[in-house]
Amino acid sequence: MSTTETASRTGEAPDTETDTAPRSDTDRVVIFDTTLRDGEQSPGASMTLEEKLQVAEVLDEMGVDIIEAGFPIASNGDFEAVSEIAKRTRNAVVCGLARAGVKDIDRAAEALGHARRPRIHTFISTSPVHMKYKLQMEPEAVLEAVTASVRHARKYTDDVEWSAEDATRTEHDFLCRCCEAAIAAGATTINIPDTVGYAVPEEFFELIRMLRERVPGAEDVVWSTHCHNDLGLAVANSLAGVRAGARQVECTINGMGERAGNAALEEIVMAINTRNDALPWHTGIDTRRIMRASKLVSAVSAFPVQYNKAIVGKNAFAHESGIHQDGMLKHTQTYEIMRPEDVGLTESSLVMGKHSGRHAFRKKLEELGYALGENAFEDAFQRFKDLADKKKHVFDEDIEALVDDEVATADDRVKVVALTVIAGTGAPQKATVTLDIDGRHETREATGDGPVDATFNAIKAMVPHEARLPLYQVSAVTEGTDAQAEVMVRLEEAGKTVTGRAADTDTLVASARAYVSALNKLMVKRERGTPEALAAG
Ligand code: KIV
Ligand code: ZN
Repeated sequence: MSTTETASRTGEAPDTETDTAPRSDTDRVVIFDTTLRDGEQSPGASMTLEEKLQVAEVLDEMGVDIIEAGFPIASNGDFEAVSEIAKRTRNAVVCGLARAGVKDIDRAAEALGHARRPRIHTFISTSPVHMKYKLQMEPEAVLEAVTASVRHARKYTDDVEWSAEDATRTEHDFLCRCCEAAIAAGATTINIPDTVGYAVPEEFFELIRMLRERVPGAEDVVWSTHCHNDLGLAVANSLAGVRAGARQVECTINGMGERAGNAALEEIVMAINTRNDALPWHTGIDTRRIMRASKLVSAVSAFPVQYNKAIVGKNAFAHESGIHQDGMLKHTQTYEIMRPEDVGLTESSLVMGKHSGRHAFRKKLEELGYALGENAFEDAFQRFKDLADKKKHVFDEDIEALVDDEVATADDRVKVVALTVIAGTGAPQKATVTLDIDGRHETREATGDGPVDATFNAIKAMVPHEARLPLYQVSAVTEGTDAQAEVMVRLEEAGKTVTGRAADTDTLVASARAYVSALNKLMVKRERGTPEALAAG
């Protein structure tokens, strides 16, 4: 009996390492990650080029089949990101999005120029409401655009995906004609988005089944799902689509995406792995890298993961009630259907103290999945030593926060050198901040409504800006009063959104550094003149 069969009867976690059940190609579900395109369209989410490269690397390492790296015509920033990711990605197919026009497709092809395995993803709306109000096009003109766009994309690559935006609100006969036209023109993947998150699972199952049955040439292409989560049904709809024969699922880390987001990659993959008796397919994802990807995406987008989020939430494997704890102590399978280590959640281990040396620190970084260059390593080691001086116990999470900080701020023009704050019940609160701006030290003093406001005012006096602060959030990296505070800030100026993140045992220092980190990104965006990305469904 295979491990999976055993698991299906007992509800215990299958052993992914020893599961040797034969896996057929027809049951392989291709994972198409769109965190860097649809995910980045989440209101307020915005990543720098460096952050996108970091995310793409983690996605590639975890076994994502296709990385949708951006929408090249939308902005120079998107173009650059797709182009750099295309150059660097070793395993995954790299995909660029394009509307159904020659300019969009040419720009996507240009950005993908250096990709080992490029894919052009072109789309057009097919529902009556989108055609009439958004496109202001007649259905026959849309049909012609489908053929023309796919044909044009095929001039650049054999790997062309076509999407029917708002497919779930499209008339079936017309959707069939569009899919047929796309296949005839050379599309190799046909994607059926539930753009507005309106479908329910039975209906979505039926839609995919109907298309596979009625569309000529359906058997020659891969059918794909792209479900939004407006009714909380994105994962259920995607799995229903796979049950109906779709073999590509479009999804994002932490379920990021437009409005309520997209189907969450980690939920799709872990549902398939854990309930393989009911969902008998497989993916190429190394699930042990899920937590790392989730934390990285949350950090760089300043989108906190909800505590009770499935798979990656802080509480997903926590057992609080006495009855549950008692059960867990007797046997973990009483309340655990997955093993935390299978999603990369390791027991928080005591790392080392101030006497630990370079060798041990390097080994710990390797274990946590970091590969730093020599200079970055030296800087991180120095900061670890400083932290170990202030904090008795240094945990894995502390090291992760420290290194993520180091990587994020390595090229910053402005750095926090010193901060002194007068806080407490006696007003006014006052902050004195020294910044290093392009190698020159400058100091300012300011008052404010509280110490954080005073600190930010002092910084603003040296780095003037008109940005709003829609998000300022503090959380503890570990437990205890000596824990590092992790601060996330989001700034918005003239339609540009940037985020900053920093950790320190002193909440005010972390706040100042997070704010300065966001300002550094704002300066880069101003210089590049990057307009906010053009949104696509
Ligand atoms: O939701 C949607 O329809 C999209 C398409 C561009 C694939 O994101
Ligand atoms: Zn979408």
